[in-house]
Parts: sequence; structure tokens; C-alpha cells
Amino acid sequence: MCGIIGYSGICSVMPKIVNGLSALEYRGYDSAGVAFFEGDRIRTVKSAGRIENLKAALGDLCENENIKCGIGHTRWATHGEPSSRNSHPHGTERVMIVHNGIIENFVELKAFLADKGYSFESETDTEAAAKLIDFFYGESKNAVDAIQRARAMLRGSYAVCALFSGEPNRIYGFRKDNPLLAAPHEDGNFFASDISAVLAHTRRFRRLEENEIAVLDSKNITVLGADGCSVECVFETESRTQDSLEKCGFEHFMLKEIAEEPRVINQTIKSVIKDGLPCFDQGLFVGAEKIHIVACGTAMHAGMLGKYVIERLSGIPVFVELASEFRYRNPILGKGDIVVLISQSGETADTLAALRLAKAEGARTLGIVNVVGSAVAREADNVIYTNAGTEVAVASTKAYSVQLAVLFLLAVDLGHKSGKLEDSAAKAYVEALLKIPDAVEKMFAKKDDCSAIAQKYTNSKSIFFMGRGVDYALSMEAALKMKEVSYIHCEGIAAGEMKHGTISLISEGVPVFVFATDNRLFEKTVSNIKEVRARGARVVLVCNEKMDVPEGIADDIIRIPETEELFATLVAAVPAQLLAYYMSCHLGLDVDKPRNLAKSVTVE
Ligand code: M6R
Repeated sequence: MCGIIGYSGICSVMPKIVNGLSALEYRGYDSAGVAFFEGDRIRTVKSAGRIENLKAALGDLCENENIKCGIGHTRWATHGEPSSRNSHPHGTERVMIVHNGIIENFVELKAFLADKGYSFESETDTEAAAKLIDFFYGESKNAVDAIQRARAMLRGSYAVCALFSGEPNRIYGFRKDNPLLAAPHEDGNFFASDISAVLAHTRRFRRLEENEIAVLDSKNITVLGADGCSVECVFETESRTQDSLEKCGFEHFMLKEIAEEPRVINQTIKSVIKDGLPCFDQGLFVGAEKIHIVACGTAMHAGMLGKYVIERLSGIPVFVELASEFRYRNPILGKGDIVVLISQSGETADTLAALRLAKAEGARTLGIVNVVGSAVAREADNVIYTNAGTEVAVASTKAYSVQLAVLFLLAVDLGHKSGKLEDSAAKAYVEALLKIPDAVEKMFAKKDDCSAIAQKYTNSKSIFFMGRGVDYALSMEAALKMKEVSYIHCEGIAAGEMKHGTISLISEGVPVFVFATDNRLFEKTVSNIKEVRARGARVVLVCNEKMDVPEGIADDIIRIPETEELFATLVAAVPAQLLAYYMSCHLGLDVDKPRNLAKSVTVE
């Protein structure tokens, strides 16, 4: 989603902004722009499309050594088409802002401002916020006062950086529900919506709190509290380095990140094992009667799969729900309920809102989060980090696999603590989990087979994915992955549900990819395969290595290395991801940055 970088310092600003915006590309965007000081005059340059287009529009300005302060933005369109007119910065000759988030009451604000003589050039909500600040700045000539008065009228979410013409080489930043960091460096100071934008320069940063305003120039970063007085500015240090944002010889981030799965799964499992058993801080789950897993997209699919395993090993009922539904449903939460929020970014707007709702309703909350210090991690009562490292490709792969690993470990832990699993059984499951990274590695080694299979289906209009139980949950994820990066229509279906409607879409040559790692349900799934084959479907079957597969049931079979059956989906996720990856490559698409998608969905 949108990205922000700002810099004021002794160096030329444009390379810093352009490189910073490039580092934010992975978040997804469709236009970009900059505002900078030329003397005490604010100038903007914007363009639709990729950062290359912005660079072209900037021309010689890219090299201009005299421009040392500016703000840059990548926009993921919400209000108004992706065009240079709608791209940020927005504002006036005296105030120019870049904004991440959504100003919900922009219609009302525009009416208020129109009454004061303002007109609007774009279709964006941001322009209303910019002109509101300008209006108050016109009255008081004081930037902090203007921000505070405007902020009192803004509804919605925002991270904003602003330039004021009366204050050259100074940048103001403030936020609500969207992250914004101030980062110091000896050559100057930065604002960034995501540390990735400045990792090439510094790993130190200060997260802004919701009621603060930060002001930076080439020498200082000052943070003002709600009362306008300066507050202590203690910097944190990011553990990731710039290397984590490199492809390291892989053609794409998505493939690199799938290749990293054995290492990150291994790391995650080992980090929570003590004396052969998983060891989470389990105070949270004492007396848990129900678990609600709430998340979006891939993270929700991990939750769907985790439900089967947690219920089976612990006997605790688990309910899984999309955060965007949960937050508006008036969920009924009992005293003994735990709400588990799963999120790679920890910044997903709906997941964050669901977390806040759960807390307001008095539920205990646990975040399973990848990004350290993200909003979900900070606001949940407890947090388990998935430690997958930076995930750059928009399509989530290694983060999903590690989410599964954490849920499986949690299932063993809950089963053990509830007394449903004896010590020996719990330890045997842990042993089995420790073997998973090896199996994942072997699976990855078969990537050329996945490439060849994907090649056969590049002309497909639709692909159906089906399975039962854990394999149904994996089918949902496999379908999402494939549609995200290949733009082919895909559906994930519970195999037993096929004949209740979707089978009407099966005709000669329609591909059905089947996951069948749960041996107990294999025969049932075979019956469903026969039903679709009878109607002409071409079938790709993913099943366990030793499974006795009836002759002629599938066009292609991908066998996953032998593992504990209950956790086999963690291995089967690899071909699901690889099939999507190669399909996208064969179709010549931008696999790491699929159209219209954002890595971190910070708006509703
Ligand atoms: O950062 P989160 O895990 O909260 O993100 C949730 C979804 O937006 C995300 O999983 C999305 O579905 C991915 N693009 C999937 O590949």
C-alpha cells in the first residue's frame, strides 16, 4: 500500500527519495510523486505508474545537488484513478503533504473548505486534509497549531509528512492507525512509513505515537507530545539489514522466499522448543474455552488450517473468521475466550480493528505476527513472532509456512497442557515437526516438476483447487496464491462440496488441483476426483509419497516427502506456492508485484 519517505540533510535529496521509494515498491503502488524545497518555494513532480516514470519526469532534478529536503510517496489508489493528478503530494503553494491511509470524512471537509473558498484538483481524500492544514496555517502561521487543529477534524487513518513554505528544509510528521518513523543519520534525518525505505542509510528509528508530531531538519529530530511540548526521543535499532531486501541471486523475491522456508521454519521451531516440548508463555491460554482466530487473506487461511490441528490435539474449539467481517459483526465473546490475530505485517487495518474490538469487549488477545514492533504486536496482550524475516514479494509464502509452524506448535502445547496429549505423544509430535524443514527442502528441490506442470495450464481460464479437512484449508490458500500472481480465476473448494454447485463449472479440460495429504480422507477425495474426471477435468494431485494412488486418476501427481501426516500440509504448501510462481513466470507477469495488490493493506 502507499509508502512515505522524507529527508532533510546535507546531501542531495532526490537519490535518497527515489531509492527509498524503490525500497517501498514491494508494498504495492500505482503512482508516485515528490515535493521538495527549491529555496523556500515548494515544488512537486508526480507521475502515474512505476518509479521509473517518476525518475523520467524528474529528469535533471535527480542529480541536483542543491535540493536537500523533500518528501516522496508511492500511492496505491483508493479515491480516484491512478493518475499523476491524483498522485501525492497534494496541497497548496504553502503546504504540501503526502499521506498513507484514508480520510473518511473528506466529503464533509471538502464542503467546509469550499465554503472558505478552496477548490479541488484531484479526486483524493488527501487533498482535503492538505487544504485543511493550509486553512489553519493561513490563520495562525504556525505549523504545529495548524496540524493540531486539522487533526482534530480528521476522521480515518493517516500517516502524513508535510512541508510548509514558511519553514524551508523542515518536515513535519504525524500519524493515526498508520505507521510513521523518524530515523536519524549523520548526513541528515528521515521520515519513513516503513524502515525498509531507509535501511540503506540507518537502522535506528523512533516510532511516532498517535498523539505526537515530529519535526525534523538536517540536524535534529524533535518529537512533540499532545500538549505541544517536546518529549524524549529514544531510538530503537532494527535487526534487519539491507541484505534482507536483496534477491541474493534468485530471479524473484517470491522464489527466494519459498527457498528460505526450510531455514525459517527450522529457526522458528527450534526457538520455542525446550526439553523436547514447545514452550510458549501460556498464561494467556489458562482456562481458555474458545479460541477465535481472526485475520485476512493468507493469514486467515493459515488460521483455517490451524483450527483443524488445534482442535484435534487440544480439544479446544476454534472459530476462524475474516477480520473484515468480525469487526462489524458484534461478535459474542465469552470471558474465557482468546482472540488470536494472525498477520505478517502486523499493520493490516481490518486485523488491527478486530484486535481493538476484541480488547474493548474484554477478550484476551494474542498476536501471531512477523514484523517486530508492528501495531498488532504492540497492541495485543501477548505476541508470538513468526521470525520469517522480511517478506518482500507481495504474495505471501514463507510467512504463511511459518504461521502454520507456529500454529502446529501451539496445538501441541495446548494439547499437552490440557492433558489431552501425554508427554511422550507431545514429544513425538515435536520430533515430527523438527523433520519438516528437511522435507520442505526436498520438496523445493522438485521445483522443476512444478514448473513443467504449471506450463501445461497456462491457457486456463479457471483453475479449481480442492481437498478435505486440512487439505481444504490449503486449497483455499493455493487458489489465492495462484490467482494473485497469475490473474487466472481460481477457487478453493472443500472436495465434498464440489457436487453442491461448483461441479457445474467442470467441463472438458478444466484443471482441478487436488490436495490429499490426510490419508484418513484419501478415499473420499478419490471419489471426488472421479466425479470431476467423469466430466472431463484434468487433475493434478498432491499427495503423500507412499500413497497408493489408483491408476489413471490424475494427469500429474506431485508426491510430498514422507512426514507426520497431521503436519504434511506444511510440506504440500511448497508445490502450491511453486505452481503459482511458475505459472506467473510462464505468463510473463510481474510475479513479485502483481497488479492492484499491496503487501500491507493499511486501509479498510
Ligand atoms: O500482513 P497480513 O498477514 O495481515 O496480510 C493479510 C493479507 O493482506 C495477505 O495475506 C494477502 O492476502 C497476501 N497478498 C497473500 O499473499
